[in-house]
Order: sequence, then structure tokens, then C-alpha cells
Amino acid sequence: MDETRDPLMPRPVSDSQSEMNEIVLPNDTNPLGFLLGGRLMHWIDLAGALAAHRHSRSYAVTASIDHMDFLTPVHVGDLVVLRSSVNRVFTTSMEVGVQVIVENFLLEECKHVSSAYLTFVAVDKEGRHVKVPPVIPETDDQRRRYEDAGRRREIRRAELARKRNNAR
Ligand SMILES: CC(C)(COP(=O)(O)OP(=O)(O)OC[C@H]1O[C@@H](n2cnc3c(N)ncnc32)[C@H](O)[C@@H]1OP(=O)(O)O)[C@@H](O)C(=O)NCCC(=O)NCCS
Repeated sequence: MDETRDPLMPRPVSDSQSEMNEIVLPNDTNPLGFLLGGRLMHWIDLAGALAAHRHSRSYAVTASIDHMDFLTPVHVGDLVVLRSSVNRVFTTSMEVGVQVIVENFLLEECKHVSSAYLTFVAVDKEGRHVKVPPVIPETDDQRRRYEDAGRRREIRRAELARKRNNAR
């Protein structure tokens, strides 16, 4: 890594692209041998953090995780593949997308389990928010995710404002 580089220089989405693999063990499952939703959410958070750290090169905290669906059950012994990348940067926050695939290597089949959008806020050692370098989408899919992330942010902000008002 070039230490003299401007920390706020824009970086391509590909710099943040990450992959995390987990084998589902008995301790990750319910009594029927299905992966616990909470364990998968934990892995999603970690996979998202990988992309956020790689892009921002700073500490980052999870501010929110959008609605999630679990589309197919995952069984003990399955291989879970989590792919993450930064979709868009705002000022101190960034939206990260995580896609979860289950791979049954005996049957040689892959299924989409879930997708999640997480917002991370970059912070320094004292917990103060810090600016994040812009992200450059380079492919059609990355440009689509970038545009969609802007719309999702407006929805999140409206919802957060409503909750903060209600809490007063
Ligand atoms: C998330 C957190 C840093 C936001 O701090 P804050 O002072 O309330 O935030 P602000 O209103 O100043 O917003 C700062 C940025 O965070 C974003 N943000 C804040 N809350 C958010 C939320 N719930 N969802 C998405 N983005 C959020 C804002 O849009 C803003 O982004 P921008 O700088 O890119 O425009 C703070 O609430 C926190 O530390 N939460 C605990 C985080 C944590 O510990 N996570 C682990 C699980 S407990």
C-alpha cells in the first residue's frame, strides 16, 4: 500500500470486493440442523465490515442493516459464501451490499440465500465520524447498485427521522 496516497482519493468498487467462506457446523444450527438466522446475520455483518474497512481504510461501525429475507434453508455441512462490496459512499457513511450463496459441494449446486444492505459509518480511534473516500462504480451492475443506493438512503433517512421524532 502507498502510504503517501491521499486518503480521500476515490477508489473503484473492486478495491472493496471481498469474499468470506464458512462451513456450517453443528454449533451454527438449530435442532433440525438448519443454519440459525442470527448466525448468518453475524457473518453478513462481518462480510460487510470487510468491504467497508477495505474501502475506507478506517474503523467503521454498523449503523443499520436493511430488511432481510432468508430464501432457502442452509444445512449443517453446507458451504456458505458471502460476497461484499461498497455500493456507494455518502459523507461519513457507506452502503455495503452482501450477497449470500450456499454451495452444496456434494451435489455441485449453488443457491441464493439472502442479500443485505448495510450502512457503515467510518470513525477514528476516539469514535469521531470521519470522511470516506468516494467510490467509483465501473461496471453496469455497479452503476445500477450505486443509483439504487441513493434511493435506499432517502428511505432510510426518512424512516430514521420519523423514529427520532417519535422518541422525543
Ligand atoms: C451509527 C452512529 C455512528 C450514527 O451516529 P449519529 O451521530 O447519530 O449520526 P449522524 O446523524 O451524525 O449521521 C452520521 C452519518 O451516519 C448516517 N447514519 C446515522 N444513522 C444511520 C442509520 N440508522 N442508518 C443509516 N445511516 C445512518 C447518516 O446518514 C450520516 O451519514 P453521512 O455522513 O454519510 O451523511 C451512532 O448512532 C452509533 O455509534 N451507533 C452505534 C453503532 C454500533 O455500535 N454498531 C454496532 C452494533 S450495536
